[in-house]
Amino acid sequence: METWVKICRVADIPRLGARVVKSARGDIAVFRTANDEIFALMDRCPHKAGPLSQGIVHGKRVTCPLHNWVLELADGNALAPDVGCAPTVGAKIDEEDVYLDMPAARTTPVAAE
Ligand code: FES
Repeated sequence: METWVKICRVADIPRLGARVVKSARGDIAVFRTANDEIFALMDRCPHKAGPLSQGIVHGKRVTCPLHNWVLELADGNALAPDVGCAPTVGAKIDEEDVYLDMPAARTTPVAAE
């Protein structure tokens, strides 16, 4: 089940930049490409937890500011030869508003095993 939460307007995120959204799971980096597409990844590089939100967006990729790993925004995967993945967060635009799929906002209790 998706739980869409309105975050901000598209214009609130700098082109080729990012905005950080706090969540119960940790910070989420919400990126805006040159073509005004929106992607969201957990704001922790899979290498050594660098802040991806401070990286450089190019095309549909972001370069981590710490050691220059390049990650695909769509799936969070690092480009070879590096290996790793930043978890993705669902993101969509509806009438210039940005929404994130925030599972932590769900109110349905998780069944104990
Ligand atoms: S922490 Fe991102 S490349 Fe090292």
